[in-house]
Amino acid sequence: MRVEYSYLLKQFEVKEGEAKVKYVDLPKQANVEAILTDIKEILLKTGQFTLGQPVAEFEAGFAKLCKTKYAVGLNSGTDALFLALKALNIGSGDEVITAPNSFFATAAVIAIAGAKPVFVDVNNEYNIDAELIERAITHRTKAILPVHLTGNPADMPRIINIARRHDLHIIEDAAQAVSATIDGQPTGSFGIAGGFSFHPLKNLNVWGDGGITTTNSRELSDRIRLLRNHGLKTRDEIEVFAYNSRLDTLQAIVANRLLNALDAITDARIKNAKTYDDGLSDLTDHITLPPRKSNVKQVYHTYVILAKERNKLGTYLAEKGIETKVHYPIPLHLQPASKYLGHQEGDFPVCEAQAKSILTLPVHQHLADDQVAYVIDSIRKFYRK
Ligand SMILES: Cc1ncc(COP(=O)(O)O)c(C=O)c1O
Repeated sequence: MRVEYSYLLKQFEVKEGEAKVKYVDLPKQANVEAILTDIKEILLKTGQFTLGQPVAEFEAGFAKLCKTKYAVGLNSGTDALFLALKALNIGSGDEVITAPNSFFATAAVIAIAGAKPVFVDVNNEYNIDAELIERAITHRTKAILPVHLTGNPADMPRIINIARRHDLHIIEDAAQAVSATIDGQPTGSFGIAGGFSFHPLKNLNVWGDGGITTTNSRELSDRIRLLRNHGLKTRDEIEVFAYNSRLDTLQAIVANRLLNALDAITDARIKNAKTYDDGLSDLTDHITLPPRKSNVKQVYHTYVILAKERNKLGTYLAEKGIETKVHYPIPLHLQPASKYLGHQEGDFPVCEAQAKSILTLPVHQHLADDQVAYVIDSIRKFYRK
């Protein structure tokens, strides 16, 4: 599986300088001048390079966005999930249920906390199939870790019901779903904790790595605060041996300015997604568009289609100067790192089938209308051939 995919995905690459439509456009950033001024005025003048007011301000702003009582700024989305698991004392001998079609970190945090990742297949929304969760629960299960993949929230009402019935924690992997909602309720506020990423490819991207854990639990928030900063109780005393997982002050300064730009970023992504929906909606014989639900705000971290002849389409688009990706070509249960879990092909058929035909189109906020139109036109030409 691995050899085939890596070879084929190479064909989707567009040569440097030849991209007409880039998958992302990171040199274009929102509020650059204001951020640079803040770095001079706040960071360099005070010399406070760790924690401090910018981190506290961002935590307050982000908690407000997520309608949670607390948010703890961390150095990555990975640690936002990992420290939530550690703070909940989930580790050796425990099992955590999650989806097999996510970014590596989703399973990695469970494994490095010492617990066993237990995968459950996904539905046609690319999210964990709530219908299948209960049969994966054992006496060792401590938590469900649903992923809001692509920026589309998992079926939280059903997952909450299951978790309540079995007395399980819910830790949301909301890395891709900042400001997504179900019936107006934001992701990151459904479970005991939500982990977000501010990696450069994310909707709210800092200038490096960053993350945050949201929670309504004072106890959990305090514990994660302790864990992120060496377990320090006072300057000279540690309560537990712990980590250095703080959100950098510099990144908090960037994040504060981006939080103000988030609505515009999200709206632009939603608009691009809608244009794709409209322009491709009659190609149902060839492609399946992302699901839409009227009570859900999907924020399109990625715009994923299921495409017939996916590999040929990706190669064709690359020849046209359009960068596409596959999220993700190798399911987590088939990764070499998962070998010890004893899975094989066929264990999660929906996820595996999707991995063979999904394609992620560029949907970022800096795309011009004519670029989106060019992608649509190129896909139409491919299937008309
Ligand atoms: C679904 C998911 N979970 C976790 C992560 C980890 O976040 P980070 O890269 O900030 O550690 C990411 C992003 O990279 C992600 O997409």
